[in-house]
Amino acid sequence: MKKVLITGITGQDGSYLAKLLLEKGYKVYGTFRRTSTPNFWRLQSLGIYSKVHLIPADLLDMGSMIESVKVSDPDEIYNLAAASFVSSAFEQPVGNAEITGLAVTKLLETLRFLNPNLKFYQASTSEMFGNVNSSFQSEKTPFNPASPYAASKLYAHWITNIYREAYGMFATTGILFNHESPMRGLEFVSRKITNGVAEISLGLKDELVLGNLHSKRDWGYAPEYMEAIYLMLQEDKPDNFVVSTGETHSVLDFVKLAFSLVGLDWKKFVKIDKRFFRPLEVNYLRGDNSKIKKKLGWKPKTTFEELVKIMIDEDVRRWKLFLDGKSFPWDAPLYPSESKIITRQSKENREASESNNYLNRSNIRKKTRKVNHSYLKKIGTDL
Ligand code: NAP
Ligand code: GDD
Repeated sequence: MKKVLITGITGQDGSYLAKLLLEKGYKVYGTFRRTSTPNFWRLQSLGIYSKVHLIPADLLDMGSMIESVKVSDPDEIYNLAAASFVSSAFEQPVGNAEITGLAVTKLLETLRFLNPNLKFYQASTSEMFGNVNSSFQSEKTPFNPASPYAASKLYAHWITNIYREAYGMFATTGILFNHESPMRGLEFVSRKITNGVAEISLGLKDELVLGNLHSKRDWGYAPEYMEAIYLMLQEDKPDNFVVSTGETHSVLDFVKLAFSLVGLDWKKFVKIDKRFFRPLEVNYLRGDNSKIKKKLGWKPKTTFEELVKIMIDEDVRRWKLFLDGKSFPWDAPLYPSESKIITRQSKENREASESNNYLNRSNIRKKTRKVNHSYLKKIGTDL
């Protein structure tokens, strides 16, 4: 059975990727951050919470990241964890550089020492293009980042390319354009719009306050993009791939369509507030996906109109559940069972460390204790 480690498994992409890889028969490990409010709603909504193996790790804490690699002993790593909200990177640029940028070098160094042969995926982004003068952006378009987030991601992108070239590591990047879904965080404009429109349509709210309506984005459907990144790691050689729909729409197009789907006139409800504008904006993104189409046979299926409808329908459904006295899927659950979490102190962790291959491969030290086969059998199912 192939094993995978997904950093950022609690995020939009991490949860969809985990679902996809479980369906493909992988044993799925994922890192999560211990926070005062648990964030497992996506894994729970997708019905996979009890099927994944959770390892507490923070990109800012290198030891915990090493531990996550050691314990999971993966064939593939997808590095999806990042501080991914562009606006907040303007508020916390140094933290963003450390999490979104520098931590990738630490992770690559870890792999170089522990297992340079595994396949590594880095989540690069169309934000790295910034404001360019080309109607489509491809793998060959020069980068011109316009936010601290984009600068951090560009550093991570280059360092991944450097490790590939310098050490022959299988280090692939996907330059993904915006991709959305009902699992998107509420701070991103797509979910902010669909959630707001759902509330307005049910009489729970009477305005939607937004920022710049004129920027354009190439918006795709997130689960399909996870299929694309999976395909990248099934290749024999590492590479860089743009993933996009090839279409672009303004925020205003998104707004108009969302309101029209619930039969309302957007002009009556949308207000503009400068507080949602950015110090520097990326005005236009549209990806050229011809390389991934040709080399991997991947292409987007869900149209812009279908995407907005999927998101509106799901937000309306969730608010109706709320009105019926039922809970939201994003209501913070308690940590349902601590026994599901593999901690540094747990017996499982120590035994897994001894039974995985790194110690043999790297000859760091010899195994001193017997492998606990009953544990291996146990983690082969559900914890
Ligand atoms: P997301 O929903 O914001 O998820 C980000 C994940 O990173 C969450 O699991 C988060 O954990 C984790 N994380 C944040 N800071 C961390 C830290 N210090 N240590 C460990 N984990 C940390 O983002 P997404 O939309 O799934 O995107 C996945 C990746 O693709 C990100 O790297 C993003 O930058 C990149 N990307 C996204 C898009 C897009 O349109 N969605 C496009 C291009 C690239 P918590 O749950 O604890 O916050
Ligand atoms: N978030 C937000 N909130 N954005 C708004 C608002 C608002 O109220 N009003 C207008 N916008 C505009 C932003 O200024 C931006 O031009 C556009 O909507 C999209 O903003 P986001 O949804 O926050 O996404 P993003 O494009 O900045 O970044 C996302 O996509 C990147 C890939 O291009 C994130 O997922 C990044 O992590 C990802 O790398």
